[in-house]
Amino acid sequence: MRKRQESPRLVVMDHGHHQRDTPHAHHHDHAGEGHAHGETDEAGLAEILDLDGEVLHAYLDDVVGWVAGATGPDVQRVVDLGAGTGTGTLALARRFPAAQVVAVDASATMLSRLSAAATDADLGDRVRTVCADLDAGWPGLADLDLAWAALSLHHVADPGRLLGQVHDALRPGGLLAVTEMTSASRFLPDDLGVGRPGLELRCHAALDAQPAPFDRYPDWDEALERAGFVTVERRTFSVTPPQPEPATARYARSYLSRLRPRLADDLAADDLATLDLLLDDTSPHGLLRRGDLRVQGSRTGWLARRV
Ligand SMILES: C[S@@+](CC[C@H](N)C(=O)[O-])C[C@H]1O[C@@H](n2cnc3c(N)ncnc32)[C@H](O)[C@@H]1O
Repeated sequence: MRKRQESPRLVVMDHGHHQRDTPHAHHHDHAGEGHAHGETDEAGLAEILDLDGEVLHAYLDDVVGWVAGATGPDVQRVVDLGAGTGTGTLALARRFPAAQVVAVDASATMLSRLSAAATDADLGDRVRTVCADLDAGWPGLADLDLAWAALSLHHVADPGRLLGQVHDALRPGGLLAVTEMTSASRFLPDDLGVGRPGLELRCHAALDAQPAPFDRYPDWDEALERAGFVTVERRTFSVTPPQPEPATARYARSYLSRLRPRLADDLAADDLATLDLLLDDTSPHGLLRRGDLRVQGSRTGWLARRV
């Protein structure tokens, strides 16, 4: 039986959302576009995860730097849980040059992309992939210095159980870093020069009104504590790039094109028509031709220690 640690927590900030347990693992992307149904959707999710890493690399550096400030440089055994295409895995391997990083994901499609990216980045000798469904059990890793779960913990059926398994797989003093979105990312100006102003907010409101099998914006404070962790720190990070990123338009297009089918029944006809114009590469209003896109959003990070 797991014993709850009585050590004091240093939890900063307030956060309004609560996690919900979910009966199954769901493959959705953090951009909120819904569930994967087969390989095409997985390929689409993989594409958006890669673009996420490309456009938000400054954010990723901030988070990894924050984690490294707490671990110190001597990090050797790292696991990336729900690693996706590996933007976190590779950032961690770069940041901790003595580390072996194990990337765990239930999707072989994601992991084959991850392995190729690791090889391309000359990190193949320090990155290993493990294809495993975390709902089915812990993949036998132990004595870890650092566990990382980016936008993945809310996917698993029983996050509390997984947190307990991670806790036990860390060495005493080892750290878990979790990140989640705090709200849907934004790309569009309020006035697009076409259609009614405020389209993006209406898209997000429609999405938020739909039933979801998990909390897209979870709060892990209590679950971390229940699993025996001491929460070292919680921090909110802006994802807005410090300067324009060339891939922003492709990122917005990938995001909104995955959103479009989910909103077909919930948006007014004029809003759907505007969305279609944005997604039309031949339209002068098309996302790929616009110069007014800007990524805005934030993510929450938790750093929790096994004592
Ligand atoms: C939103 S993606 C995040 C990927 C990556 N951490 C990132 O930040 O780019 C969530 C990932 O968790 C994986 N995943 C979801 N449920 C899982 C489970 N039960 N076991 C293992 N991986 C899972 C998905 O396949 C997907 O790659």
